[in-house]
Formats: sequence, C-alpha cells, structure tokens
Amino acid sequence: MTYKTSRILSSEITPAKVWLQRRDVLTMGAALAIGASLTQSGHAASLAVSRSDYNVPDKPTPKKDVIGYNNFYEFGLGKEDPAAKSGDFKALPWSVKVDGMVARPTTFALEDMLKLFPPQERVYRMRCVEAWSMVIPWDGFPLSALLDPVEPLGSAKYVAFESIVRPSEMPGQRGAFQSLPWPYVEGLRLDEARHPLALLAVGVYGETLPNQNGAPIRLVVPWKYGFKGIKSIVRITLTDKPPKNTWNLAAPSEYGFFANVNPSVHHPRWSQASERRIGSSGLFGSSRVPTLMFNGYADQVAGLYGGMDLQASF
Ligand code: MTE
Repeated sequence: MTYKTSRILSSEITPAKVWLQRRDVLTMGAALAIGASLTQSGHAASLAVSRSDYNVPDKPTPKKDVIGYNNFYEFGLGKEDPAAKSGDFKALPWSVKVDGMVARPTTFALEDMLKLFPPQERVYRMRCVEAWSMVIPWDGFPLSALLDPVEPLGSAKYVAFESIVRPSEMPGQRGAFQSLPWPYVEGLRLDEARHPLALLAVGVYGETLPNQNGAPIRLVVPWKYGFKGIKSIVRITLTDKPPKNTWNLAAPSEYGFFANVNPSVHHPRWSQASERRIGSSGLFGSSRVPTLMFNGYADQVAGLYGGMDLQASF
C-alpha cells in the first residue's frame, strides 16, 4: 500500500525515526513534515503529510459557533448545553493512560503531552463534518506521539478510547434519564490512529480547549464524521478486537465503526451528499456545501481503505 500526496517534496519529508528523536529537542524545521512507516497487513508503506495538508483554504467557522454549538452529552442533549452546563468541570490535573497490547504501558500527564510539540507547530485548520460542518483551527498534535513511545505489540490492531465519567461535574451523567451509556467510547484501526492527520487537540482558536469542546484533550479525525472525535479522553487501549463505539452501540443501523465522510453513503434518515456549514451565510441561514469524499482528505487517507467496500463498512 502506498500513500502519496501531491503537495509534498521529498526534501520536506523527515523520516519518522529522526522526527521522533527530534521531538525531545523541539528542533523540527519550519515546514512541519512527518514521515511514518506503517506495516498494516505486513506491507511496509510510506506515508507523508506536509504542513499544508493540515490546513484547508476554507474560511474558519466563527469562534462563537465553535465554542457555542456543541455535542457533548455528558452536559446535556441540546447544542447549547455543553457551553452552558460545563462550568463545574475540572479539566486539571489530567492524565491519559495508554495501555493494553503494548510493551510499555504509560500514563501521560497533560503537562508532559503539551511539551511534545512547541505551540507554534500545533496549529491545524481542519474541516469537521456531520450533517452540519465547521472549519476549526485546532491546536493539537498527532495521536501517534502517544502511540509510538508505548511500543504497540505486533498483535495490536485497534485503538480504543474512553472518556471520563464524573457525574458530580457532568449533569448529563446524573439522574434517572441517561441519554447514552457511560463512559463515551470510540475506536480506530491502528493504522488509522497512526495516520499523521489523526490528532489529539488541546486547544482551539489559539486558546486552551474549553470544557464544551472536550477539555483538556480530545480526538480529531478530520476524514471521519464528528462523533468519532471523543472528548475528555482518560484512557487509550491497544487491542486486537474492534473496539465498541458509543453511537454504534446506541444505533447500530445508523452509525458504523468507520464513519468515514462519504457523500454517497447516506445516513438512513438524511442524505450525506451535502452539509450545512455553520456560521456561513446563505439565503436561509447557514449555506449548504457539497460534502467531499473523506471530507476532502482523500489524497492523504484513501490508501487506508484499499479494497474495502465502503458501503458495507460505513
Ligand atoms: N465525546 C464525548 N465524550 N461525549 C459526546 O457526547 N459527542 C460527539 C463527539 N465527541 C461526544 C463526544 C459528537 S456526536 C460530535 S459531533 C463531536 O464530539 C462534537 O464536537 P464539537 O462539539 O467540538 O464540535
């Protein structure tokens, strides 16, 4: 399997080994370029993503919408509940445990994770899509920065994620009516998780991640629908079995494991051919734009799904 992008010069690519060593001294070149090698299905594959791949030309969604129109059921069902009801949530201190099929299980303190990359190298503007979409200037770093140091075993094929359970600070986790089973859980295939565009976000719009957006650390997988972006992560577990994911558990016929953005695979209750771009002005409120395959990141990620029936594996 070969990955290629049309916007990368070989001189811009830093081999993964060099990149990982350099992380300690934070001397990466001005144009961030990441080279990684994957061994999915036994084939060595080269993969390269340039700094420009992290940015999209689209106008960013206004900040008030990014931090005011959210899904975070631990704080309620309404889109305005997370901003209104997450004030009691304490995102510090925080750590993420990375365990399972790994040689070196590790608990990463938030402050150590923040040191992995200097802030100026953590800014990415990416699309985020569901039936509605936003273009969000995330501040984050590749998820692989936590996966590589723990040394996944050869038997590990998937990565499972778990959010925090803290009913005393999360009103949606209290009371007789529970919208979802807790903790919120998600999963990726290991090769997806190692893709340089799979990020852990720690900030947005140049500020520390607000509670409603998943403080202090959440997943951003820009070629997948928004529900894959699990918030307030406390545990990441390497496994050999496909992990459960909350929306698939809640409505298996509507939400699959992969959830790749795909304009030709429709949700049973709505078309996914176009999306309502929040904050953009159209005749009747936000304007609709055509949805792109893999949310516009096909050049970078289509190779992950070679030979798969994306209608069946939705
Ligand atoms: N993570 C947790 N823990 N709880 C949630 O309810 N909602 C998901 C995802 N991550 C959710 C979650 C859904 S449905 C979406 S669309 C995105 O978060 C929304 O992220 P945003 O509010 O930052 O746009």
